[in-house]
Parts: sequence; structure tokens; C-alpha cells
Amino acid sequence: MRPVEIKKDIWWVGVVDWNKRNFHGYSQSPLGTTYNNYLILDEKVVLVDTVDKEFASRTFCSIAQVLQDRKIDYFVINHLEPDHAGSLALAVERYKPEKIYTSPMGEKALRAHFHASADWPVEVVPSGATLSIGKRTLHFLETRMLHWPDSMLTYVSPDKLAFTNDAFGQNMATGERFADQVDRAVLRRAMAEYYANIVLPYSPVVLKTLSTVADMGLELDMLCPDHGLIWRGAEDVRYVLEAYREFALQKPLKKAVIAYDTMWHSTESMAEAIADGLMDEGVSVRIMDLKANHHSAVMTELFDAAALVLGSPTHNNGILPLVGNLITYVKGLRPQNKIGAAFGSFGWSGECVKILTQALTDMNMEVVEPGVKAKNVPTHEALGQCVELGRKIGQAIKAKVGE
Ligand code: FEO
Repeated sequence: MRPVEIKKDIWWVGVVDWNKRNFHGYSQSPLGTTYNNYLILDEKVVLVDTVDKEFASRTFCSIAQVLQDRKIDYFVINHLEPDHAGSLALAVERYKPEKIYTSPMGEKALRAHFHASADWPVEVVPSGATLSIGKRTLHFLETRMLHWPDSMLTYVSPDKLAFTNDAFGQNMATGERFADQVDRAVLRRAMAEYYANIVLPYSPVVLKTLSTVADMGLELDMLCPDHGLIWRGAEDVRYVLEAYREFALQKPLKKAVIAYDTMWHSTESMAEAIADGLMDEGVSVRIMDLKANHHSAVMTELFDAAALVLGSPTHNNGILPLVGNLITYVKGLRPQNKIGAAFGSFGWSGECVKILTQALTDMNMEVVEPGVKAKNVPTHEALGQCVELGRKIGQAIKAKVGE
């Protein structure tokens, strides 16, 4: 990709990773991703973030096209995760910056990631610090735990632009650089997917940061995340800030996710019967076999759902491993305002529903009890109990979110 001037003398010099499907080793990115970094040409030339190490030569090529015969004076490192700081050592060696600005926790993370950084010219910028680079001033705002301890936002005046790092990003590989150039529904889905799988546990920090930014009275005309499309213009800035507020509040829809694994299709037939009961109550349903749906795809659907209905047969006095995997993943992301319910078939010992119910309780979900378990192949009566459970869950959902 060629560099793109996003405002006068402020350039996107990032990389589009069209074929990325495994994001950070735990989440799927079905639309690919981008690593956005930026170059500001002023009296001082500033590089904001780098890219995944695999793509260092690509960003260096873009930077060279913008720099011409100038040199980079300063680096600003908003976040040390390797998709943004992975090329930092190569960039330091290449550009020999006068200063590398990062947050207090950023400095700690930098030292831990780059063991040969002792002689790098690192300068810690506390939250609220400013730096004049000529016609422009950079304002640094720590956004600790959004989503790492080192995370920082850099605001540029008078351009009314903020480099927001992971916040407001989406995993979308596109030739377009601005949010207003792509289909809004696809973009919204990608934003939600990113939020659900990366940002969700830090929702209280999101709300606090949105309120801090509002209190600061920062004028915002452009938000530049480090993944995906850039938000330009007051209307789109308002849109994405409001979307994040809605995401962080986690108000559920009249929707349920039934996630299960199955051995001989008994638990699967129970899932279908529960779905019938939910649909009888007018609830929108997603039935997700964990052999066919990655845990991050389930999390994306669960994000705006009111209920998680978990199913597993009893296996070796426990549950199937894909269900255990989903529980571990969802628990870590700490979704709020959810209803839970459990079901599953069994051959002899039959612990599945008890184990799943405990897991849902541990995730602070309001569990609809009793769950349903069925011996071997569910009878007509057992499937009727599943339909009834689905109806009960549906009624609980409607009591929570309204008709
Ligand atoms: Fe996109 Fe936290 O890295």
C-alpha cells in the first residue's frame, strides 16, 4: 500500500494484512486486519507506532516515500503489543530517533519486550504531558488497561486528531482508509467483533475514558485507530464514540446463543428443541456447534445477546473439551447482563448439567434452573422439557430486555 495523507502533513504509513485470520493466537479475524502507524511532518518529524515485525520493510518503504530527505526525530509509542511495536527495534536501528516517548507503563513494557533497549533514548510522558513539535502540540493521555497497562492516546492540536491505538479499531483489511468509504453495517459488525474479543473486559475503563475525554473538552475531528478504518469528520467521530458507549454498557438484545458440542447428536437435538422454545417466545436464536464455530465467533454473537445456553454431553465425568475451552474464553472476557442455562445428554454418570450450571454461575450469569439432561437418546418427553426450558429462558429474556 502507498502512504495516504490523512490530514495536511499527517500520513498513514501502515500495512494491510489481507490474509490474517488468526489474530493474536486466540481470536479469528475473518476480514483480515491492518496495522496503522502514522508519520507527522512538522519542525520535528514524528513516527507514531510501528507495525507487526513481519511487515517492517513495508512500513519503512512507505515512510521513505513520505520522508524524502528528512529524518525522523521522535517516536511516540502508544502501545507495546507486538502488532504495533514489533518493528520498534528495527526502526530504532534504522532511524536513530532523538527521543522515544511512551507512557510510564509503556517504558516498563518496552524494557521487558526489548532487552537491548538500555541505551535507547526513552522518555516517559505522564498523562497530561504535552510536547511541541513545531506548529503542532502532542498531548498524551494514558488509557491504562484499554487494553494493556501501557496503552496511551496521543492527541494532536490544532488538527483535532487523536491516535487512539487499539480503541475504536476493527479487524478489516481494505483498500479504503476511512470509515465513510466502506459499508457501515460490515464496519459495525467488525467493530463489535473487535470489541467483544479484545476490549470487553475493560468496559468500565472505556466508560471512564469517554467521560474523561468529554470533560477535557477535546475537539475531535479525526480518530485514528491502529487497526482498520480511520474515523473522519465530527459526525463519524460522534458515531464511534456513541458506539463505544453502547458497547461498554452491554445492554442485551432479545437474542440467545445456544453453544454446544455433541458426540452422537443427542445434545444437538436438545439444542434444537431449546431453540424452538426460545423462538416460541419471539427470541432471536443462534445455534452454534463448537466444532463448526470458533470460540471468538461465539463471543461475537454472545456480545449483544441476553442469554448463553450451554450444552455438553457428560464425558469422563466432565464435559467435552471444546465446551471447557469456550467457558475459559468467555469467563476471561467477563460479559455482563447475561442469563445462562445448561443442558446435555449422558450415558451413566451425568454430571454435565451440574458442571455447566456452576460455570455459568461463576460467570455471574442469572441461571435459569433446572437445566435439562437426557439419558442417551432424548425421548419425546425429554425434548419437550427442552422446549419448556427454551420458553422459560425466553420469558426471562423478555423480563430483562422487554418485549
Ligand atoms: Fe492491536 Fe493490543 O494490539
